[in-house]
Amino acid sequence: MHRFRKLLTLALALTLVLAAVGSASKTVQAQAVSGKLEIYSWWAGDEGPALEALLKLYNQKYPDVKVTNATVTGGSGVAARAVLKTRMLGGNPPDSFQVHAGQELTGTWVVANRMQPLTSLYASEGWTTKFPKDVIDLLTYKGDIWSVPVDIHRSNVFWYLPSKLKDLGVTMPKTWDEFLTQCPIIKAKGVTPLAMGENWTSIQLFENVLLANLGVDNYRSLWAGKMLWTDQKVKDAWTQFGKVLDCTNSDAASLTWQQASDLVINGKAAYNLMGDWAAGYYTTTKKLAPGTDFGWAAAPGTDGVFIMLSDSFGLPKNIKDTDATMAWLKLLGSVEGQDVFNPLKGSIAARNDSDLTKYNVYSKSAAADFQKDKIVGSLAHGAVAPESFTNDFATVMSVFVGGGHDIDLATAAAAQLTIDSQAK
Ligand code: GAL
Repeated sequence: MHRFRKLLTLALALTLVLAAVGSASKTVQAQAVSGKLEIYSWWAGDEGPALEALLKLYNQKYPDVKVTNATVTGGSGVAARAVLKTRMLGGNPPDSFQVHAGQELTGTWVVANRMQPLTSLYASEGWTTKFPKDVIDLLTYKGDIWSVPVDIHRSNVFWYLPSKLKDLGVTMPKTWDEFLTQCPIIKAKGVTPLAMGENWTSIQLFENVLLANLGVDNYRSLWAGKMLWTDQKVKDAWTQFGKVLDCTNSDAASLTWQQASDLVINGKAAYNLMGDWAAGYYTTTKKLAPGTDFGWAAAPGTDGVFIMLSDSFGLPKNIKDTDATMAWLKLLGSVEGQDVFNPLKGSIAARNDSDLTKYNVYSKSAAADFQKDKIVGSLAHGAVAPESFTNDFATVMSVFVGGGHDIDLATAAAAQLTIDSQAK
C-alpha cells in the first residue's frame, strides 16, 4: 500500500512536470532582457492593430525593454522602403524591419551584405520543420536563412458584398473574360465594376491577370528568366489587362488600398482585387462579418493557385541592441506571437502548427487553400523580383496605365528591366 502511494505521488508529480513542459513550449519563456528596440514597418493607422497587439505581448514579456514602433505609412511599403534605404545606407538601421520574404530580402539587403544570418536561431528554436519549405526557401540565400516570417498573405483575392452582387444580378466571375462580359452591365447601373487604388495595386492586379493568362508553369518561368517578356502569351496578358483597367474607377491613382476597399463597402464598386489584409480591414477596422457581410473568391482564372507573400523581420548588421532584437524575433516566430498577430491582420500564420480555432472563416479557408493550392510568389510584394526591378516596374506600370495602354512599350521596357536586374 505504502509503495502504491509512493508510485501514485511520483506519477502525479510527473504529470505536473509534463503539463508544465507542454505549456512552456506553447508560450515564449521570457528571460531578463533590457535596452531599446526599434521596430520599423509600414503598419500604421488602419494597418496597425496586429503589430500593436504583438508589441503589447512583447512588452508584457520584456517590460524592461523600451520599444519604439517606428512606422512610415503607405500601402505595400512603397514609402517605407525608400526611407529604409536612406537609413540602411546611412549606417542607421532600425533594430528590425519589415521586409517581404523572397527577392526583396535576399536579392536586396542580403546580397548587399547588410543582414546577419539567422540559421542558428532556426536550429535552436526548432523552426526548420515548423515553417513550410516554400517559405524557408524564400528566406534562404547561399545556405543561410535571413529573416523570420510573421505571416502569409494571399494577393489573388476578389472581395465583394454578396448583397450588392445580388442587386446587380451578377455572380462572382470565374474568368477574366467573364468579368469583361459583366463589366458593361455593371457600369450601366452606375457602379464601378472593379475598384482599384494607387500604382502598386495596379501591379497587383497585373500579376493576377498575368497568372491567369500564363498558368502556373509559365508564370514561374517568367520570373526565373526562362520565359521572355516579349512572348506572345505575355503580350496577350497585357492586352487583357488593358481591358480590365477600363473597368476600374478613374480616380484610382489617388486612392489608398483602404479607400479602394471602401468603394466596395459603400456599394460604389462591385469588386476589389486585394491581398487579404483587406480581410483584416473588413473585420478588424470595419467590424464586418466574413461570409455574410462580405464575400471573397480566388481572382478570376486563378482558382487552385495561391499567390503568396510573407512579411518577415530580420537582424540587420550594426544594430544597437541585439538581445532585445533576438527576443523580438523569437516571439514573432513563436506560435503564441503568430496567433496574436495574424487573426487581426487577415493573414494566416507562417508556421504550420498555429491554432486555427483563433481564426475567422476567411482565414480558415485561406489556410485550407494554402495546403491544397499551387503556390506562386507575388511581384507586387517582393517575392519574385528584387527591389530594383519592382521600383522600375512601377514606372512601366504608371506609363501603361496613364499612357494609352502601349503593350509593345511595356513588354520591351520590362524585358530590359529583367536584363538590368540580372546584371546587378
Ligand atoms: C503588403 C504587406 C501586407 C500589407 C499590404 C498593404 O506589402 O505585405 O502586410 O501591409 O502590403 O499595405
